[in-house]
Amino acid sequence: MSRNILQSSEMEKMEQPNKDGCVLCLCLNVTSGSIRRAVEAGARTFSEVQQYTHCAKSCGMCADGIKAELTRLLAEAKRQQ
Ligand code: FES
Repeated sequence: MSRNILQSSEMEKMEQPNKDGCVLCLCLNVTSGSIRRAVEAGARTFSEVQQYTHCAKSCGMCADGIKAELTRLLAEAKRQQ
C-alpha cells in the first residue's frame, strides 16, 4: 500500500471526534483540542504549533489540515477580541 493512502480504519479514526476533538495527526495522535491549546498558549505559526504538539513530524500528510485548523482558530480568536 502506498504511504499516501490512508487505510479506511485510519480515515474513520480521523472523522470520529473524541473528547479532545478529531485526531488531525494520526502518526502522533494530535487532536484538534491539542491544536486549540497550542493557540491558547500563544502559538501563532505552524512551526510554533509543531513545537507545542509535535504534530506533522512523521509522515507529514497532516500538515495541510493542521495549517487549515490553525488558520481557523486564529480567525476565531481575532473575532473574539
Ligand atoms: S499524520 Fe501527522 S505526521 Fe503523519
